[in-house]
Amino acid sequence: MPVVPSLPRLIAHRGLSARAPENTLAAVRAAHEAGLGWVELDVQLLGDGTPVIWHDRDLKRCSDGRGRLAALDLAAARQLDAGRWFAPAFAGAPMATLEEMLALLAERGMGVNLELKVNRGHDPEALAEAVVPALLAALPADRCLLSSFDVRALTRSRALAGPDRLALGILHKRLPDDWEARCRELAAFSVHTDWRRLSAPRARAVKAAGYALVCYTVNDPDAFAPRWAWGVDAVISDDPTRFR
Ligand code: G3P
Ligand code: MG
Repeated sequence: MPVVPSLPRLIAHRGLSARAPENTLAAVRAAHEAGLGWVELDVQLLGDGTPVIWHDRDLKRCSDGRGRLAALDLAAARQLDAGRWFAPAFAGAPMATLEEMLALLAERGMGVNLELKVNRGHDPEALAEAVVPALLAALPADRCLLSSFDVRALTRSRALAGPDRLALGILHKRLPDDWEARCRELAAFSVHTDWRRLSAPRARAVKAAGYALVCYTVNDPDAFAPRWAWGVDAVISDDPTRFR
């Protein structure tokens, strides 16, 4: 039987990124302390092949470093401050390795929608190879959902995990017309899309075909509200506490 993740209605985007620096251990602790059981996080590789939790191709926006993430090795990444840009209270927050982040998620009993972030010039297959075995070893399968905009990363992930052990989600700003064939080829569990570009008929078609439907990044609960009736299963939000 394919694994079915225990997906909640609300998922904290890059951790609780409205309240703590995105994609850090602090952002995941903040989500947990706010009562949220699941987080979405981005993962990519350093130049030495270490998987780290990071969104951008560059260092500038979310750290005191400059240049490309892929130019760093782990020792250099350790020197960065990934918290002060957000607020002085977070000064010194480190860039988290995937290993550190999975240990925290396991310790807190949390679930993760891990996004394989394939930025320009990166190798999608190498990313999948570094991430999939670590993810499967660290967390129960019903607390993992791996997604990506990059079909090569997802295809390699499915090959590594086999048919049953790992839930995959296809990720599109706007769903392409062949979304269902893409899901079938990957034995996907879910479809993830920008909520502003989702139509009611498309949402209903996704649900009728048996897939979970996840919308990002929803920060206006009132504007989003009518879409719950379309069958949306979960939303990814910078601040899911606004939905309560
Ligand atoms: O996984 C949903 C969302 O995180 C995709 O966009 O750019 O925020 O990683 P982005
Ligand atoms: Mg993401």
